[in-house]
Amino acid sequence: MGAALRGGDVVVLSGDLGAGKTTFVQGAADALGVRANVTSPSFVLVREYAGRARIVHVDVYRLSSLQELIDLGYEELFAPDAITFIEWGDAVDELLPDARFEVDLRTESEAERRITVRARDEALRARLAGMLFERWAVPV
Ligand SMILES: Nc1ncnc2c1ncn2[C@@H]1O[C@H](COP(=O)(O)OP(=O)(O)OP(=O)(O)O)[C@@H](O)[C@H]1O
Ligand SMILES: [Mg+2]
Repeated sequence: MGAALRGGDVVVLSGDLGAGKTTFVQGAADALGVRANVTSPSFVLVREYAGRARIVHVDVYRLSSLQELIDLGYEELFAPDAITFIEWGDAVDELLPDARFEVDLRTESEAERRITVRARDEALRARLAGMLFERWAVPV
């Protein structure tokens, strides 16, 4: 999925505590050419990396209100040149752009995860279908 993302894309990650949201972003960032070590932004809320595009990694788990995200200048998070990953983004649903990918990770057992990927709008859905087909020949 990382390889197919481009500037302006927003990926919202939800799911159980410790299900692998940060690990997913690490993989996507790797595919996006990020050389730096991607670490959880839980405490700092936002980290940025240079890759094929500007990569913004947000974790809103510790935000106590939506106002904190607004204070961060959240509109800049969704800049057209940035690829934004937002962990626990479902908690700030009303602030998210409509055009977004959603990745939900659920812990099935210690060694198994169920990952559901959705696209919120028609154009993104077509791109998502393309990504899946290209990588795994999954017909969508
Ligand atoms: N696919 C995987 N295979 C094996 N271990 C994994 C996998 N995904 C995550 N882990 C391990 O699970 C732990 C939690 O992963 P991670 O930090 O990515 O989860 P998270 O959903 O971001 O957690 P949080 O809810 O705290 O943000 C880490 O120790 C990580 O190494
Ligand atoms: Mg995390």
